[in-house]
Order: sequence, then structure tokens, then C-alpha cells
Amino acid sequence: MRRAQTGIHGLVGALAVALLLVFSFPLHAQQPTSVNPDANAVTEQQLLQELNKIQGRGTLPDTRSNVIVHPAGRDWRHFQEVTLPWIGGIAILGMLVLLVAFYLIRGMVRIQSGRSGRTLVRFNAFERFMHWMTATCFIILGLTGLNITFGRELLLPLMGAEAFSTWSEWAKYAHNFLSFPFTLGVILIFLTWLAGNIPNKVDVQWLKEGGGIVGHRHPPAYRFNAGQKMVYWIVVLGGGLVAASGYMLMFPFYLTDISGMQTAQVVHGVVAVLFVAVMLAHIYIGTIGMEGAFEAMGNGSVDVNWAREHHKLWLEEVQKGEARRDVRHVATPAE
Ligand code: HEM
Repeated sequence: MRRAQTGIHGLVGALAVALLLVFSFPLHAQQPTSVNPDANAVTEQQLLQELNKIQGRGTLPDTRSNVIVHPAGRDWRHFQEVTLPWIGGIAILGMLVLLVAFYLIRGMVRIQSGRSGRTLVRFNAFERFMHWMTATCFIILGLTGLNITFGRELLLPLMGAEAFSTWSEWAKYAHNFLSFPFTLGVILIFLTWLAGNIPNKVDVQWLKEGGGIVGHRHPPAYRFNAGQKMVYWIVVLGGGLVAASGYMLMFPFYLTDISGMQTAQVVHGVVAVLFVAVMLAHIYIGTIGMEGAFEAMGNGSVDVNWAREHHKLWLEEVQKGEARRDVRHVATPAE
């Protein structure tokens, strides 16, 4: 009897162990799926595809913070981290390489007939102040802006984290505050030099003849030649675009929503790096590229022979004006 009881106990025990084993298998198999962190990601991925964003409920008063993942945000980050540095790097380094090559091949464009020793006023004090104010702001804005795009890669390893963050903080202040005098300068340039920068037939001929820079001819030009008119319009339109997009970034969400902010940032970055590349060519021509050009913006006067070679029609206008003034002086003698 006892042996039979022991047998039954053994059987029940074995059955219990077997049952436990049988039921514990599916349990183990299911466990990973019930706590699988990827499962949520899959659902989120579906949400992202269907709704184009992942949105929740938040406690912050600004409901825009409830949008957590937005595909356009990723495109924007890719633009910031990859596309813009490439566009900027190619444009700016490409321009520097071109200018060095051009200088080595062509050298400085000389005053062919030599200096006459007589000068005439090209830019008055106000024009020079306006130019240098805009130029100084532009150079600082350019360097501090490039710090945002390239600083972390290029300067951080050289300067170390502490110095880089102090420099970047000051750079950002400078970038924000100098935008105001720069914008004023662009407006003044637009108004002051508009009359001399309307395209005309003479520009077509000037361009056909390579502007006397490519080759050694000197096509006639009025006060500003076709190349300078291009610089003028790039400054006015490019400056207008970087200023408008920059103010949208400085005062976020006043005028636009998140996608408008992203567009403003793309426009600001692309126009700015192309602008810097073009102005490098301008700075080249205004300094080592052409003999006698810098003094026009330096002390305001140019040599008459320089004016005859580069701006013949302007020189004739100035001389005609002077002749008319002389005639008037003779006709009305001093009392
Ligand atoms: C170191 C920097 C710069 C130098 C050495 C320089 C030099 C010059 C010179 C010499 C001229 C007179 C050319 C002539 O007499 O025909 C000039 C004109 C002009 N500059 Fe600059 N410049 C500089 C930067 C800038 C910047 C940053 C801007 C605007 C953002 C600018 C805008 C202009 C404009 C619109 C003109 C009139 C059109 C022209 O001559 O191309 N400049 N510059």
C-alpha cells in the first residue's frame, strides 16, 4: 500500500515537473516580444511614415514642442552637417585656387601707359565710409558665420573645448550685432550707387572683350564696368537675402513656422558661402589684382591714366563736367 502511495506521489511529481516545463517554454519564447524595445520603434516607424511626424502630448505651453520626430528635421540636419560644408568648401577653396592660378598666370593688371601723376576724385568720404563699414562688417560676419559651419571640425581640435566655446560665444554676439550696420551699409550702397549700376549696351561690349582682365584690351566703361555692376547686384541682392533670412533666424517663429525656419536657414547658409566666395574675387581685384585700384577706396582718388584705361567714358564725363564748370566760372567773374 505504502509502495503504491509512493508510486502515485512520484507520478504526480513527474507530471507537475513536465507540465511546468511545457508551459514555461512558450512563456520564455514570448517574453522578449513583450518587452522588446524595437517593437515600439516599429510602431513609431509606421506612425512616422503614415503621419510624417511623431507627435505626443506635452506640458510646455508651446505646443510645437510636442512634435518629437519630423523627417524634415533629419533632412535639415543632413544639410547642416554634410551639404552646406561641401558647398561652402568647394565654393571658397575653389575660388582661392582660381585666384592664385589667375595671379600666377596673369599677374597684376598694370597701368599700361604708366602713372600720369595727375589724379581725380573717384569716391568721396561718405562713399568710402559706407564701403568700409559694410566691408568690415562683412568680413567679421563671414568669419564668425564660417565658425558655425566649420569651427567644430577645424578649430575645436586646435583650440580645445574651453577656448573654442568662449570664442564661439563672442563670435555669435558679433555675428548678431554686426548684422545691423551691415544691413544699413547694403541699403546705403543700393541707394548711393544705383544710378551707375543700371546695365547698358556698353556692358555687353565690355563682357565680350573679357573686361580687359582676361586679355590686354581696355574696353570702355562708364563709372562702373559690367564686372563691378555684377558685384554691386550680388551685394544688393545677396546682402538683402542673407539679411532677411538672418533676421528670421534671429527672431524665430515671428514670421514663419518650423519649415519656414528651416528654409530660412538653408537660404542663409548657401547664399552666405557663395557671397564670401564672390567677395574674395572682389577683394583680389581691389588689392593685388589691379594696379591703382585700391587708392580709389583708400584715399578716394585715382590716377588719370588708370581712369582712361579702365573707365574711359566716365573720365570723359568728369572732364566735360569740369570744363562746363570752368566756363561758368569765367562767365561770372568774382566780385
Ligand atoms: C578687404 C576687403 C575689400 C577691399 C580691399 C575692397 C576694395 C574695393 C575697391 C578698391 C573698390 C573700388 C573699385 C573701383 O574704383 O572701381 C571697391 C568697390 C566696391 N566694393 Fe569693395 N572691397 C572690399 C570688400 C568689400 C565688401 C566686403 C563689400 C560688400 C559686402 C564690397 C562692396 C563693394 C562695392 C559694391 C563696390 C562698388 C562696385 C565695384 O567697384 O565692384 N567691398 N571695393
